[in-house]
Amino acid sequence: MRPEDWGLETGDPGQQPTDHAVEAGDGDAPRRESPVPGPQSLLFVNASQVVTCNGPPRARRGREMDDAGVVTGVSVAVVGDRITAVGPTKELERNYIEARRVDCGGRVLTPGLVDSHTHAIFGKPRFEEQELRASGLDYMEIARRGGGIHSSVRDLRSRTADELLDLAVPRLLRLAAHGVTTVEVKSGYGLTPEDELKSLHVIRRLAERLPMRLVPTWLGAHEIPLEFRELPEGRSEYVRLLVSTMLPGIVSGRLARFADVFCEPGVFTIDEARTILTAARSAGLGLKLHADELRPSGGAELAAEIGATSADHLAAISESGIRVLAASNTVATLLPGTMLFLGKEKQAPARALVDAGAAVALATDFNPGTSPTTNFPLIMTLGVSQLRLTVAEAMIAATVNGAAALSLADQVGQIAPGYSADLALFDATDVRELPYWYGDQRCVGTWVRGRACHPSTVGTL
Ligand code: NIG
Ligand code: FE
Repeated sequence: MRPEDWGLETGDPGQQPTDHAVEAGDGDAPRRESPVPGPQSLLFVNASQVVTCNGPPRARRGREMDDAGVVTGVSVAVVGDRITAVGPTKELERNYIEARRVDCGGRVLTPGLVDSHTHAIFGKPRFEEQELRASGLDYMEIARRGGGIHSSVRDLRSRTADELLDLAVPRLLRLAAHGVTTVEVKSGYGLTPEDELKSLHVIRRLAERLPMRLVPTWLGAHEIPLEFRELPEGRSEYVRLLVSTMLPGIVSGRLARFADVFCEPGVFTIDEARTILTAARSAGLGLKLHADELRPSGGAELAAEIGATSADHLAAISESGIRVLAASNTVATLLPGTMLFLGKEKQAPARALVDAGAAVALATDFNPGTSPTTNFPLIMTLGVSQLRLTVAEAMIAATVNGAAALSLADQVGQIAPGYSADLALFDATDVRELPYWYGDQRCVGTWVRGRACHPSTVGTL
């Protein structure tokens, strides 16, 4: 499955949008004035519901999350790459006479979903580990034996950038086929300066080639590589390599928007994570943290202390971590697919977080070890059935709050004038069907910046 097979333009980066994430700070500023409607405009008509998620351009917290702004009897106008109007169909039909009609066929139109946590740059899948876990071997034990992340690292180091690119394209397009229009993509399976740069360059090329909006994150602190684990001072040497060699190279190449650390007992400690992220912040990167995934270690507290944009996982967050996060501006990004796939009974305390006033996002954590799924609506199913979110909360978590977890809440995640024309159409008549038909493929259309990027809609535009 290649973009060409889906009728997507490829090959000439000059023709592609120039505001891909690596340079998004320059080209993606919100534009609130209405461009003149003309032949390049689209009018999305005949949706059973438009799930606008409309509201302030920031993370929704606590009770604010329980309103997805579902409206009926409205159409959505798009001019160029922006949404220009959401309003009564008759009025928009008058104002957008020349616009091409997109008939939603009585289905549900939502903002494009925002997947704010993926590890999509990897080589081989790791299906052999699933049976090992089923037979009783723990995830961290597999890693201690040189499997897990180490196995993906060995594999990625042996591959060329072109190979990695060819593997990532269909994987990312599968996300688009499930309604995702913005994707955060981490490095983290290289763990040498060269291999981390190779991964981040692949993300940059993907951002130029694919219609989706990609946000690159440097995760050089995903593991202590085996060659450093064997040395007596290896841990501190690797932290030094991260801060003194990798970080400057990544920043000078403008290859990442965020830095992330896998902070977990047995991987990076709280103090190491603080050192790495403080350096990243000084170098101008936004911060993320894999926090309290399997065992509580104060990760949520650290994320709040250093002003991280998001703290991710949190299945083992402490009571104090919930309080501290709820009182901070850090988005709590929950990844229920990971706990499901690892066979864990525990899930992140989403209800307690929302009830304490935190801003909760949902994401796939798409990766070869702990969450090999591109089905974001399935994650919303888990959000409702396992995390006990309402459907509106799950919707906001998958759009507005995902955008906030990427510092993009003023650009994507809402169907409202001035926002990027990133939309998804689902074969359903009620928004509650999105998490209901679990594991299903209900998305029938995805648009990014007003351009179709889903097989069934390419050709209608
Ligand atoms: O988010 N927890 C750390 N990183 C990934 C898993 C990576 C892997 O096992 O390859 C995660 O679950
Ligand atoms: Fe992760």
